[in-house]
Amino acid sequence: MKKALISGITGQDGSFLAELLLAKDYEVHGIVRRASTFNTDRLDPIYADPHEHGTALFLHYGDVTDGASLRHILEKAQPDEIYNLAAQSHVRVSFDQAEYTADVVATGTLRLLEAVRDFARNGRDVRFYQAGSSEMFGAAKPPQGETTPFYPRSPYAASKVAAHWYAVNYREAYGLFICNGILFNHESPRRGETFVTRKITRALTRIKLGLQKKLFLGNLDARRDWGYAGDYVEAMWLMLQQPSPDDYVVATGESYSVREFLEVAASYCGIDWTRCVEMDPRYLRPTEVDFLQGDSSKAQSRLGWKPRVGFEELVRMMVEHDLELARQEKTLWEAGHKVVQRGLSHG
Ligand code: NAP
Ligand code: GDD
Repeated sequence: MKKALISGITGQDGSFLAELLLAKDYEVHGIVRRASTFNTDRLDPIYADPHEHGTALFLHYGDVTDGASLRHILEKAQPDEIYNLAAQSHVRVSFDQAEYTADVVATGTLRLLEAVRDFARNGRDVRFYQAGSSEMFGAAKPPQGETTPFYPRSPYAASKVAAHWYAVNYREAYGLFICNGILFNHESPRRGETFVTRKITRALTRIKLGLQKKLFLGNLDARRDWGYAGDYVEAMWLMLQQPSPDDYVVATGESYSVREFLEVAASYCGIDWTRCVEMDPRYLRPTEVDFLQGDSSKAQSRLGWKPRVGFEELVRMMVEHDLELARQEKTLWEAGHKVVQRGLSHG
């Protein structure tokens, strides 16, 4: 039985990856941050009480800002594969919390690589996936592929570039099996609610059911190459199954504007978005990434990977999921419960 360790297991991708690996009969270990409230909701469908016999999912308290915790977890879990997904992953927030973002995203990766370097010293064969981002291309002209020079436009993106080069350096310096996945935006009904796609589908479905009146957004002209998270975690796994380590762009090759996402989502909801959407400058970024469109031909030819879910299907899947959530909220509201107003000031 192979063992995998996932940092960031409680996030969108971590939950999809854990499901994929469990389905492939891996023993899966995840690093979870201590929080004052439960932060494992996305793992609910696969979580089993550790007291029960036969569970293959193990969660460990740790943090990528705490190198000692990472070393302890490596010793406990003894993984064959490590997926480094932990991040302060919100680009807008990285302008407010630049040092913290660098500590988690850049230095956090370095801490984990250092721990892995020691772990591998005993002759342990271990493979490492680094969650790189299309944000690293930033202002570079589309289409962006593996040879496109990076031009980061935020503290988050600059930190991901540092993490990318740490990973390349540890591969070359110590002969470690390390892959950088350079993933373009990928979404799902599990997407965090302050990223634009989910913010839109959550708000429009609530507006449709009368639970909310307005949706405030920033730049509607930005273009993104949006895929489905369930497809993208498969590419992560495929990278680590190859005979040698390499870096790969993962993308659909299609790009749409935020406005287009809004139009398609609104049409699925049957509402006129121009009546309920307003612009709020707080959602603009000091430096924006205008146009991302990936060239994933290398991943397609070498890994045999391809995206399965297209743009319209992705939007529909998210709208349908959030309509159901809104219906549940409405039922509670009609039963006298208070409607929750979300704190989206940073979204
Ligand atoms: P996400 O939903 O924001 O999840 C991030 C995960 O990192 C969460 O589990 C979070 O824990 C954890 N985390 C944050 N700070 C940590 C720390 N100090 N120590 C340990 N864990 C920490 O992000 P995602 O969308 O799943 O993305 C996964 C990875 O891929 C991230 O590195 C992201 O930057 C990168 N990426 C994402 C996309 C995309 O479009 N989704 C594209 C390219 C790259 P909590 O649950 O406790 O907050
Ligand atoms: N979040 C947000 N909120 N974005 C908005 C809003 C809003 O109200 N209005 C417009 N946008 C625009 C942003 O300015 C950006 O151009 C685009 O919508 C997408 O924003 P996000 O959904 O926040 O994602 P992102 O592209 O900045 O970053 C995501 O993708 C990266 C990969 O390219 C994150 O998942 C990153 O972690 C990931 O690396």
